[in-house]
Amino acid sequence: MPTPKIAPSMLSSDFANLASEAQRMISFGADWLHMDIMDGYVSDMAKALLFHFVPNLTIGAPVIESLRKHTKAYLDCHLMVTNPLDYVEVFGKAGASGFTFHVEVSKDNWQELVKQIKSKGMRPGVALKPGTPIEEVYPLLEGENPVEMVLVMTVEPGFGGQKFMPDMMNKVRTLREKYPKLDIEVDGGLGPSTIEIAAAAGANCIVAGSSVFGAAEPGEVISLLRKSVNESQKSG
Ligand code: DX5
Ligand code: ZN
Repeated sequence: MPTPKIAPSMLSSDFANLASEAQRMISFGADWLHMDIMDGYVSDMAKALLFHFVPNLTIGAPVIESLRKHTKAYLDCHLMVTNPLDYVEVFGKAGASGFTFHVEVSKDNWQELVKQIKSKGMRPGVALKPGTPIEEVYPLLEGENPVEMVLVMTVEPGFGGQKFMPDMMNKVRTLREKYPKLDIEVDGGLGPSTIEIAAAAGANCIVAGSSVFGAAEPGEVISLLRKSVNESQKSG
């Protein structure tokens, strides 16, 4: 069974105090820190032409580089950008640990992407939006250079604090049946009220932003998420 990884999404943290927020999450028992990299479109035209992937602009490699100076934690970088290949080198240098790109924008060059990501010492992952069928990631899990994690989005990418989409659990279940040892990450709307369904479907890497940062006791939420994954694994 792949081990549970609880990954607070730093998108919900106080960006002005990123280093102390990161240290705070690690002290509460977080395994990974989830970093949402978004390229921000400003017009429908830019969206239609796929110039940009999401309507929000967040952080880039310079921020990862600064944060890396303050923590040894695994930085689980989720790149919601249209041209991930352009970012591999800088993220590698900046100290990213995982580099997860979107399948929707990587159909033609994922093999090259995976190769480059590994050559920069990062762990390759692939993410898919709610409207993308799970079958689209299968080729990336086969062959000589497979990705090592699949991130199933459980909200539309772009913002924290959205509502969890339970329909996405079919994708997680299908993937878990086919790949018992794979790291399967769920991202969007996870918290105490949605973790059980995600854990039962077979997710082991849990991203949680607003539910952790918004809690009075973030450490308790992190423990509860981990416990739920552990218990589902035992009973499944
Ligand atoms: C959304 C991001 C998520 C987001 C999750 O595009 O990929 O990582 O921060 O935040 P919550 O847990 O608040 O839905
Ligand atoms: Zn994310």
